[in-house]
Amino acid sequence: MEASRRDFLSISLGGLGALGALGVLYPVLKTLAPSSASSTEARVEIDISKVPELGIRVTSWKGKPLFVLNLPKDLEEKYKYDVKKDSTNKTGKLNYDLLKEHRVFALIGVCTHLGCIPLWKPEGSESVKAPYLHCPCHGGLYTPWGDNIGGPPPRPLFVPPQKVDGGKLIVGEAGFVEDTV
Ligand code: FES
Repeated sequence: MEASRRDFLSISLGGLGALGALGVLYPVLKTLAPSSASSTEARVEIDISKVPELGIRVTSWKGKPLFVLNLPKDLEEKYKYDVKKDSTNKTGKLNYDLLKEHRVFALIGVCTHLGCIPLWKPEGSESVKAPYLHCPCHGGLYTPWGDNIGGPPPRPLFVPPQKVDGGKLIVGEAGFVEDTV
């Protein structure tokens, strides 16, 4: 009787241990396993009509937060952003130069300082009287195109490759942006 209770306990604990090990290993195995999901994530389609003007739609691309913005036409004329001209993206340009012809575009929503997720402030604030992106971790400030206007971030937000096809913004395929990631 005593022996079978001991057996039961050791089988149960062994089972729990195996489950625990699986729990630890699962994320590793999932990362290593070839998966069709990873190629799907590398190409994301966004229905442009679903992004309201001056609004943001947050989704993800390659596991990173993706911000899709829809900016009114006159935004850059209405507000003068004091952009740090020396912090440029991989192409040596400001994000604005790549994106200005497009009202709807996507940015990677990861602060280039230490990786926090910035907040969209469409109404501006006491200190920035214009729509902008604010990283609350250390006060990083970005224009709606992701260019630096203040705080410690050393460079603009990354801009993924993207193109417009019909009424869709396709992120993950080169078009009006090739690649600045
Ligand atoms: S992580 Fe964004 S300002 Fe530091």
